[in-house]
Amino acid sequence: MPREAAQMPGQGAACVEERAGPCGVVIFGASGDLTQRKLLPALFGLFRRGLVPEKFYVLGCARTAMGDDAFRDRVAGAIRDAEGGAQAQAFLRRCHYEAVDYEGADLATRLCARLEALDAAFATGGNRLFYMAMPPALFAPIVNRLWTYGMTAQAEAGSPWVRVVAEKPFGLDAATARALNREMQRYLDEDRIYRIDHYLGKETVQNILMFRFANAVFEPLWNRDLVDHVQITVAESLGVEHRAGYFEQAGLLRDMFQNHMLQMLSLVAMEPPSSFDAAGVLDEKVKLLRAIRPFAPDDYGRFIVRGQYGRGTVGGAEAAAYREEKGVAPDSRVETFVAAKLMIDNWRWRAAPFYLRSGKRLPRRVSEIAVVFKRVPHSIFRHVPAEAMPPNALVLNVQPEEGVALTVQVKHPGPRSCMSSLTMDFSYQEVFGGHPPDAYERLLLDCMLGDRTLFIRQDCLEVSWDLLTPVLKAWETEPARYAPLPYAAGTWGPDEAEELMRRDGREWRKP
Ligand code: BG6
Repeated sequence: MPREAAQMPGQGAACVEERAGPCGVVIFGASGDLTQRKLLPALFGLFRRGLVPEKFYVLGCARTAMGDDAFRDRVAGAIRDAEGGAQAQAFLRRCHYEAVDYEGADLATRLCARLEALDAAFATGGNRLFYMAMPPALFAPIVNRLWTYGMTAQAEAGSPWVRVVAEKPFGLDAATARALNREMQRYLDEDRIYRIDHYLGKETVQNILMFRFANAVFEPLWNRDLVDHVQITVAESLGVEHRAGYFEQAGLLRDMFQNHMLQMLSLVAMEPPSSFDAAGVLDEKVKLLRAIRPFAPDDYGRFIVRGQYGRGTVGGAEAAAYREEKGVAPDSRVETFVAAKLMIDNWRWRAAPFYLRSGKRLPRRVSEIAVVFKRVPHSIFRHVPAEAMPPNALVLNVQPEEGVALTVQVKHPGPRSCMSSLTMDFSYQEVFGGHPPDAYERLLLDCMLGDRTLFIRQDCLEVSWDLLTPVLKAWETEPARYAPLPYAAGTWGPDEAEELMRRDGREWRKP
C-alpha cells in the first residue's frame, strides 16, 4: 500500500496518509439522504485528495428507476460545493447506477453482471465495498442474495476483498442486535462487517486517543485521584426535522447514547492499548464498556433523566413542540433528551462519575468532553477559600469549534492579589486552517484500507445494548412512571437534569 509521510502545520508533525487500492464502492440506498449529504461528498473528497485511485468506481443502487446520467446529475448536485472542475468530471465518469428491488429474485443476478462489467472496465481487480445506507431490516436479505451469488465469498490471501458497511441503527435492543449479528454472520465473517459510528470518524474524537497517549503529561492525571468527574455533552439546536418516522421508533437513548455517547466515553476512559490497531483499541474499549455499572431498577428515575421538548425559542426563532412536528404522534412519549450519570467500576475510575447529556432543540449545537479535575486541597490565599477556586478543566471540543482548552487560575494583573480563570485554547481552525474533513471521508477510506480500528465490533455493540436495554424496557413497561419530562425548546433540558448534578454538589458546564 503506498504510504506518504507529510509534514503538517504545527511543530514536528509526523503524519502518515495511506491511499486505498483499486476497488468499487456499491451504495445500497443511493437515492437517500445519507448518500446525497454525506457519502457522495466524502467519496469525492477522497478522490480529489488522491486517496482513492484512478482504478475506482461507485455504483449507486436503489429502488428508484433512473439511468447513469440521471444519477450523475444527483452526484453533481451532491458535490456541487466542492471546487472540482476536471476532477469532478473524472469522478462523475466513475459513477453508475442500477435500479434494484432489494427483495426481488433478480437483485443478485443483475448486480453480479453489472459489477463484473464495472470491475473489468475500471480494472479494480474485483475488490468491492458494499455500503448499506438503508433500514437494517434489509441488511440480511441483501447480504443473503450477495452470498447466494458468491459475492461475499471468503477472501483468501491475494484474492479480491469484499467488505460490508452497516449504518446504524444496528438493532433496537440487545436481542434484535444479537439477532441481526447472527443473521449477517451466516454470510459474512465478523471481520468483514464494518458497523459505522460516524462520531468515531470526527477528527476531534480521534484526537482523544492521540491527546491521551501521545503526551506523557496527561495520563498520570487521568484517574479518580485527580479527576473529579467527566462531562460529555452533545447538544443539537435542531429538532427531528424530516426524520420523525425513524425517531418515533428510536428515541434519543437509542439514537445517540447507545452509539456516539458510549463510544466517546469509552475512548476517554479506556486503558491504553499496547498499539493503535483494531485488536488493541477494540479490546480495551469493550473492557471499559463492560466495567460500566449496570443501572439498577431504582436508578432509572434517579440517574437517568428523560425529557421531551415543548414549544420554545431557539436561536431567536420560535420552535414547535416535539409533539407538533410532522409525523410525530400528538401523545408521543418518545424522549428527545437524556442526561445520565454513569459509574465505572474499575481501578482507574471507581467513584469518579461520568455525566452524559444529549438532546435536540437545546440552545445551540455543541459537543464537548470535559474532564473536570479536583479542587486544590487547601487554599494558601486568605481571601479565596479552596471551595471558591474553580477546578481545572480540560475540554475537548468536538464541534463546532474543534479544539482543546484547559482552564487554569491565574493572577489578575494589578497590585492586589486577585485571581481569575484563564482558558488556554487550541483551535483546530487557527492552527491547521479550515475545518477538518468530514468524518465519513476517514471512515470510508478506512473501510477501503481494511482498517477496523474506528468501527464497532460485535462485542462492543452487544455490551452497549446490554447496558441500555433494561432501561428501555422499563420505559416501555411503565410508561406513566417514566414519561419524558418536559423542557422548553431552547433550554438545556428538564430541571431534573440540573438536579442530577446538583445532588452531587456539581454542575453542568455552560458550553
Ligand atoms: C446521528 C443521529 O447519528 O447523529 C442524529 O441519528 C443526529 O439524530 C446526528 O442529529 C448528529 O450528528 P452530528 O455529526 O451532526 O453531530
